[in-house]
Amino acid sequence: MGDYQRIYDEHADAYDALVACEDHEANLPRALREHLPLDGATVLEAGAGTGRVSRLVAPWVRSLDGWDRAPAMIDVARARALAAGHGHLRYGVAAHGEIVFEPGAYTVALEGWAFGHAVSWNPSGWRDEVTAWVRALERSVGEGGHVALIETLGTAVEAPFAGGHTLEPFDAFVRDALKFTRHVVRTDYRFASRDEAEARVRFFFGERTAARVRDRVVPEFTALYVRTV
Ligand SMILES: C[S@@+](CC[C@H](N)C(=O)[O-])C[C@H]1O[C@@H](n2cnc3c(N)ncnc32)[C@H](O)[C@@H]1O
Repeated sequence: MGDYQRIYDEHADAYDALVACEDHEANLPRALREHLPLDGATVLEAGAGTGRVSRLVAPWVRSLDGWDRAPAMIDVARARALAAGHGHLRYGVAAHGEIVFEPGAYTVALEGWAFGHAVSWNPSGWRDEVTAWVRALERSVGEGGHVALIETLGTAVEAPFAGGHTLEPFDAFVRDALKFTRHVVRTDYRFASRDEAEARVRFFFGERTAARVRDRVVPEFTALYVRTV
């Protein structure tokens, strides 16, 4: 967990500043709207972090209950929802497996860039863990509901998984075993300068990814996995 957990516990604002520069072409909200019935949706979000995905869907959904186990991330999500007047976005602190819900209470359940951490954090048990988390999301929406996972396909790369990536087995698992359909979305970052790009990419992704930064625009590919229950 190490570095990422420390970022979520101690540097939530810097994380939020990083993701504010992501997807400068706003392709992800378009893809979410295209592939999920978001108008008037009641949404459960696991691993909501500082509320980046919640804010993307906020204009369309009726309500969203977002959960994350890092209190510092949830503090930022709450503050940003308050500042934006988004009273329909509610947040609480809970690990994925501990979210309490009434089965079928939601129409859409999703997570963004949160389940994939299990691949590094639980190398021998992540398939069981991710399956249990996905089953819980499915129960929260019930039959006919929609479940979506958002995970990276690589940052500062020219094609999905170019050069290899730790989430390749996750990608195969959710498509082949859990039967999600994948949509590939371009989510390039745009920073104020190349120096800022390098510094912010280094902060979150580390030295190897920062070394690939060539410009203030940093190419990135993201997977939106969708399944109807
Ligand atoms: C990369 S951030 C993504 C946050 C947010 N979804 C976003 O799109 O910016 C990963 C988040 O997942 C949370 N997380 C990771 N594992 C978790 C778990 N087992 N239970 C709850 N939250 C978890 C972290 O605390 C962190 O806020």
